[in-house]
Amino acid sequence: MTNDVQWVAEALQKVYGKVGRTNMKIGANFPHASVNGSYQLEEPHWWTAGFWPGLLWLLYRETKDESLKETAKQCEKQLDSVITDYYKLDHDIGFMWTLTSVANYKLTKDEDSKRRALLAANLLAARFNCKGNYIRAWNSRYKGDENTGWAIIDCLMNLPLLFWATKETGDPRFSHVAKKHGETALNHFIRKDGSVHHIVQFNPETGEKEKALGGQGFSSDSAWSRGASWAIYGLALLYRDTGESHYLQAAKGVAHFFIAHLPDDFVPYWDFRLPQGITNYRDSSAGAIAACGLLAISQAVERTEANMYKRTAIKMLRSLYDHYGDWENDGQDGLILHGTSHYPEGKNIDVPLIYGDYFFVEGLTSLKAEYELFW
Ligand code: GLY
Repeated sequence: MTNDVQWVAEALQKVYGKVGRTNMKIGANFPHASVNGSYQLEEPHWWTAGFWPGLLWLLYRETKDESLKETAKQCEKQLDSVITDYYKLDHDIGFMWTLTSVANYKLTKDEDSKRRALLAANLLAARFNCKGNYIRAWNSRYKGDENTGWAIIDCLMNLPLLFWATKETGDPRFSHVAKKHGETALNHFIRKDGSVHHIVQFNPETGEKEKALGGQGFSSDSAWSRGASWAIYGLALLYRDTGESHYLQAAKGVAHFFIAHLPDDFVPYWDFRLPQGITNYRDSSAGAIAACGLLAISQAVERTEANMYKRTAIKMLRSLYDHYGDWENDGQDGLILHGTSHYPEGKNIDVPLIYGDYFFVEGLTSLKAEYELFW
């Protein structure tokens, strides 16, 4: 591992140098995808709002650079304007407030951040459908947009906010909801071969499963790689938070599917099961997320087994660093090139994505030291 210490330190140094420069340019805003070298900004209610401040908190923890902390805190304050917006908020509340308020609270013990994160956890728990035992993903965005019965695999990453709220308050309601949703994900989203569905539709009145939908994957029976990466990491965290071994088994099953489908450079294509003739773009963000998931699995299993997961995570992060990273080029805001956000909608294909950057840096910091995760 000695060699790893060296390249990880070097990579973190380059990340810090570049993010220091982009912080001057982006400031307290909410970047998502970098188009023609510039991060495009989103409104604060968009699901990606937590990743830039989360990245700044990761680097603040490394460097104690107050300018990074200041921007992260300003981003968090801006989210106050959307926490009361019933129409715009959805299950991504978990992504948004875990990487802003929970991160801030874990690092600085700021009581305002704790209060915000608890409010966010209440809103997330309130999306639970107790007939179907799922957290509703999104709200209807236009007339006729019927998605009351939709749950999505990404939501596994929102559950740590609920477990955190139970730990902080002693009130088990939050973890009850998280466990019920986790069981639903296990029973209805993970296929026998280890691939996953993105969206499953339930009958919101009876709770019965109706069908699976393709969502951001190519089709309902393809294998969207970022969905698999959310499952690997989310299931590993569910095991951490419940101690229930079936979540660890499931995380390993999805991980084995994912690893078996990696190309030679260890960075996944956006969908592992595409028909002939569809361009197989990479999704570097799925690689970064899955690497963090593999590191979480490696923490949960015994030593010889742990080594396999950890070595694979290192190969993935190293490949991102060596072949996908953009370090010195001030004409490119993103850190990690070649992410694919939403192929079916033709959005943000083959570009840097802020969550790819975030998880790449989280993976590096996890290799450097045994920090408490923000999740
Ligand atoms: N819907 C979250 C994602 O694009 O992964």
